[in-house]
Amino acid sequence: MKRRHFIKNASLTGVGLAVGKSLVSCTETNEKSPFKKTSDVLEKGSLPMVIATWHVIDATAKAMQVLQAGGNVLDAVEQGCRVEEANEKGQSVGKGGLPDRDGNVTLDACIMDKHGNCGAVVYLKDITHAVSVARKVMEDTPHVMLAGEGAKQFAISNGFVPEDLLTEASKEAWEKWKVEAKYKPIINIENHDTIGMLAIDENGDISGACTTSGLAYKMGGRVGDSPIIGSGLFVDNEIGACVATGLGEEVVKTVGSFLVVELMRQGKSPQEACEEAITRIVNKPKSDYKNFQVGYIAVNKQGETGSYAIHQWFSMTKFQNGVNEQIQSDYFNKV
Ligand code: GLY
Repeated sequence: MKRRHFIKNASLTGVGLAVGKSLVSCTETNEKSPFKKTSDVLEKGSLPMVIATWHVIDATAKAMQVLQAGGNVLDAVEQGCRVEEANEKGQSVGKGGLPDRDGNVTLDACIMDKHGNCGAVVYLKDITHAVSVARKVMEDTPHVMLAGEGAKQFAISNGFVPEDLLTEASKEAWEKWKVEAKYKPIINIENHDTIGMLAIDENGDISGACTTSGLAYKMGGRVGDSPIIGSGLFVDNEIGACVATGLGEEVVKTVGSFLVVELMRQGKSPQEACEEAITRIVNKPKSDYKNFQVGYIAVNKQGETGSYAIHQWFSMTKFQNGVNEQIQSDYFNKV
């Protein structure tokens, strides 16, 4: 089911979420939302834990499975993100991502480990698992970021098999868009939901990753926040980590994920830090925030989490204590 439709339907029915063989019920907390609110689940909990942007229970389940099988947090976030990259129905990440205005699917991704090492790819074409190429950049090159054709050739030389990422569904959507070819960021739909994932193990060690096809129908060559360390993702293993989703340009202008981690370093909880980072965006002079979405999720060294967005219907998926659930995020624009 498309994420947009899931959100709409879930809000009407208060559905339970099927997670593998188990059924996770969503706690009704107020009249408007069938989901548990972020503020209800901020207590310190047992570790390990995996959190991710949006409704991606298969991805968080995979990450937890990796941890339970003895994998480390870096393996977990990479494998979790790969689930969504391979999911052709998700039109904002990996294969099946919506293309730029010229019909090219171009991917951005990055990954960061507990030692502060990081790797990224930008404007990557024809390779589904951008997050794994980012990890290769981190581990097998002296660089942090590879772009475009160089990134693709690096991937191929490391055994990644090129394939056409434009599915029939995404091609059809692009053909429809071309009729009017109007560009306007749209809030909370498939053209704006980067998958970002953070994992923390029993020792409190943290890693993170994010992956996206970026803004649908973007200009050729456009790169968003997701592969930019400090904007789309930041991990400081002494403090915590943050990952962003939404309109990348606004995240980059405030170096959003680094800001959230630095606010936690100054003593704010993950929730307070996410709220402050969103407030910085909406309080900018002449901010056009009513017309775009940005959301952050964060975790600190103690395993406390936070999530906050400009607009309603941003959510976080959290897998902890055997429960894999979607948690509705609090948000700024309540009028
Ligand atoms: N946050 C994803 C992008 O703007 O490309």
